Amino acid sequence: MSLPLLRTYATTTVALLNGTFARLYPDLKTQRVDLSERNAIVTGSNVGLGLEAALELARMGARVILACRNQEKAQAAREQILEAVPKAQIEVWSIDTSDNDSVRAFAEKWAKQEPASKRRLDILINNAGALSNAKATSKQGHEFTYATNVLGAFVLTLSLLRFMPENARVVWTSSIALLGAYPVRPDNLDDQAYLGSLREGKRYPVTHALQLYMNSKASMALLSRVLAKRLKSPGIVSLAVNPGAVRTSIWRRPGYGDVSISALGARWIDVIGIRPQQGGQPLVFAAVDPSAAALSGQYLDRNVPRWMPWWHDDVENDDAVFAQVEKDAGITLEQALKQK
Ligand SMILES: NC(=O)c1ccc[n+]([C@@H]2O[C@H](COP(=O)([O-])OP(=O)(O)OC[C@H]3O[C@@H](n4cnc5c(N)ncnc54)[C@H](OP(=O)(O)O)[C@@H]3O)[C@@H](O)[C@H]2O)c1
Repeated sequence: MSLPLLRTYATTTVALLNGTFARLYPDLKTQRVDLSERNAIVTGSNVGLGLEAALELARMGARVILACRNQEKAQAAREQILEAVPKAQIEVWSIDTSDNDSVRAFAEKWAKQEPASKRRLDILINNAGALSNAKATSKQGHEFTYATNVLGAFVLTLSLLRFMPENARVVWTSSIALLGAYPVRPDNLDDQAYLGSLREGKRYPVTHALQLYMNSKASMALLSRVLAKRLKSPGIVSLAVNPGAVRTSIWRRPGYGDVSISALGARWIDVIGIRPQQGGQPLVFAAVDPSAAALSGQYLDRNVPRWMPWWHDDVENDDAVFAQVEKDAGITLEQALKQK
């Protein structure tokens, strides 16, 4: 058996054990850091892990932007945070990560803030994510899961890079599901070939929807790794994180299309899943813990670096995938850095 294959089997076994016994592990607790005068953006923070992370950052004194697509839900989340932390500085901003135009409009709004201290971005948590088996494309014509989970996060990160000081953190909410991804290449990132092969209005088989989700999570970790390497000199930290198997609404959404599968997922997560509060901890650790800065580029699980899929070791492919995402994003890292 080849070494990469052995590594895949070993990590998948660890992953399964990790998920299955997660509730038995001791709670994670992130060291409190003073975040007053710091600005943070958390995408998809009206519920679930994003909301937990936003709450924790607010507790530490940061000004937190809830970057959400549904303003009503986001306002309710803001109220919830204010109830727990009455002095919290929480703002609700609109973003749809599946739409590059919406992401750019968000970044343009960020650029116009006064005074300049409000424009400095210390923490960006790319957390918004979805799993869907609708045969859908984004406004720009990209496969929907890729557009929502990967491309939107990438456009946002590059568009805001010029506002990030040395030691700023970019956190990518990845998943242990990355171990199930097939090797992502520049020509299968967007899965246009598969989209084209389906009849109009037809849904993906649920297995394929899951595959797209796994690929999107592996792509996020890949982008984080390349970004960390290339941003060493401005000193920006990028980390991909597995939050664990968490009891959030992602497991109950109708995105699976097949109701029985959704119900199965919901039951399974109720048995093995950890609390959302605990699921938010790894995101916060990556965003604030002083020791995490030295781990830039790594994929963390329970705050410890873990192996990524074996094909992430192919530097040539990593760079080619990164270049393809830059093309789909309509902005390159070089251009983003020139704006700094
Ligand atoms: N829960 C787990 O076990 C688990 C495990 C590994 C990784 N993750 C990852 O963790 C992240 C958060 O998931 P969660 O578990 O907290 O699930 P969740 O409760 O379903 O939250 C997902 C969040 O993403 C937002 N979102 C989805 N599509 C969006 C879009 N196009 N534009 C803006 N926001 C969008 C949702 O907004 P709406 O409420 O408006 O839909 C919601 O705020 C996801 O990236 C997920 O893949 C979760």
